[in-house]
Amino acid sequence: MDVIELRSDNAAGVAPEIVEAIAAANTGTAIAYGADDLTERLHDVVREVFEHDGARVFPVTSGTAANALALSAIVPPWGAVLCHETAHILNSEGGATSLLGGGAVMRGVAGDDFLMSPDSLRRALDSVGWGDPHYSQPTALSFTQPTDRGTIYSVDQIAALTEIARERGMRSHLDGARLANALVSLGCTPAEMTWKAGIDVVSLGATKNGGLSAEAIVVFDDHASDELVYRTKRSGHVTSKMRYQSAQLIAYLTDDLWRRLATNSNDRMRELAAGLAEIDGVELLNRPDVNMLFVRLADEHIDRLEAAGLLFYRMGPGVIRLVTNWSTTPGEIERALTAFRS
Ligand SMILES: Cc1ncc(COP(=O)(O)O)c(C=O)c1O
Repeated sequence: MDVIELRSDNAAGVAPEIVEAIAAANTGTAIAYGADDLTERLHDVVREVFEHDGARVFPVTSGTAANALALSAIVPPWGAVLCHETAHILNSEGGATSLLGGGAVMRGVAGDDFLMSPDSLRRALDSVGWGDPHYSQPTALSFTQPTDRGTIYSVDQIAALTEIARERGMRSHLDGARLANALVSLGCTPAEMTWKAGIDVVSLGATKNGGLSAEAIVVFDDHASDELVYRTKRSGHVTSKMRYQSAQLIAYLTDDLWRRLATNSNDRMRELAAGLAEIDGVELLNRPDVNMLFVRLADEHIDRLEAAGLLFYRMGPGVIRLVTNWSTTPGEIERALTAFRS
């Protein structure tokens, strides 16, 4: 039976352009540990794409490493990272930020649609005992963009929240494991979504959008960059064959490949959601702003969809998660909709 992959964009393969970039990098030898020409060029590419002459980039192998390292560079061990209470760093990374942050804690902030709001952030900040060593001192704010529930912050929402954080001397991080999906959805530039909106450090994901264990930390803050030189090494992320990660990231960010791949996944999700919205007994739980949709339907129908070859995650009784990816085809969406209709 032909299955239709809607579990996760992590389940997708590697984009052909990325495979070609790895093959092209696979000639001759190159100096190890990121001192190679490709990694050097990656810095230029990142500076151009993010329109920031001082940006520095640190390739790493997972999104969890990118987040934990990025945050460790902007929180002291006695510090706290504020994030939405549903954030991936808080709920799905096994406390990696606390480990690499030397004991720093994460504190969840409430907010509708899985987004922190200025009011909820102010309330959280007002409840801190500032200067009192009994309280972890918030020094970083972390956004998940898009969120784990498929919602996105507008650029103005990010800017408003980073400004509140900056008033308290905090710096801001953006978990962009799916940054490209948010960028194409909002139609803004990488600069507008990040440093121009007050973000100091970005976890830039590529793996979910066609890369092969290639993620990067993009840093606009010199102090954090200086820290990351040592922190990436001590955590085992200065890989000897970094040139293969750098080659992927260069290809990813060149000629809009990242946007093209993310446009496919977002467009397929929009088609899927539009079709599902017309089927009785199927309730959409979020707007299809990116490539992720949560859907409520009867458990016996969920069982039948599974039997028909649809792959998805069950989120509890009567709720499933559907995720499209860079390689999802219109034909697969049509077949998925046929299964839902029947
Ligand atoms: C929003 C978000 N951030 C970070 C990660 C972590 O990425 P990785 O699984 O590569 O560690 C994920 C993975 O699913 C994610 O969804």
